[in-house]
Amino acid sequence: VHADVIAIDGPAASGKSTVARRVAAALGRLYVDSGAVYRAVAWEVNRRGIDPRDARAVSAAAARISIATFAGGGAVRFKVGGIEPGDALRTEEVNAAVSPVAAVPAVRALVTGLLREMPRFGSLVVEGRDIGTAVFPEARAKFYLEASPEERARRRHAESRAAGLSVSAVRDSIGRRDRIDSSRTVAPLSVAPDATVIDTTALSIDEVTDRILKADGIRTLPRPDAGPAARER
Ligand code: C5P
Repeated sequence: VHADVIAIDGPAASGKSTVARRVAAALGRLYVDSGAVYRAVAWEVNRRGIDPRDARAVSAAAARISIATFAGGGAVRFKVGGIEPGDALRTEEVNAAVSPVAAVPAVRALVTGLLREMPRFGSLVVEGRDIGTAVFPEARAKFYLEASPEERARRRHAESRAAGLSVSAVRDSIGRRDRIDSSRTVAPLSVAPDATVIDTTALSIDEVTDRILKADGIRTLPRPDAGPAARER
């Protein structure tokens, strides 16, 4: 069975989260934030006092982390050790640790495995870095969002999430993650050959969402949970 997935990839602060949430809501699909799962692993690595750059220690930690997924509120969510981490994943400590942690092959195998199980919850919109290239290469539709580094820093700074940092510090933090994410050996950030690239620099959230919703066939993609075929089963 083909996983029914719309993939939205791109670098940090390219607008993926907001757009992916809206696309999912408009199409009645579940939203998946794959970056949050990597952030949860990084958070756990920090919590255990492990150096995020110590790949062997990070691999060992990954083997001991238990992440439980469930569907609720229009999204696929997860708990780590029985807790939904929420805003704890958005700190600068997690920002600094997540890209080195996500470059460790054992971590990628762990998170990719969890993501590939998620289509059992329903049709998905999954945002990340390697969704269309590595996690769901067979995705029915793929989008790659990009924006200039200045615009991405400005957007992230405008969110309360960047609390306390200057625009240029946010720009540096995003730039460091981009470099690590694009240069790692396993599933680096890259544009899938069959992805539609949208430069969001001069576009509003609504305009980007609209472009995706108006893409060829996006509303008529076969959905395993709807339509005559499903009813006959
Ligand atoms: O999307 P977000 O910025 O929250 O992702 C945090 C980090 O998680 C990224 O910088 C990247 O290192 C990692 N990530 C990844 N593959 C994904 C999603 C996120 O490596 N599919």
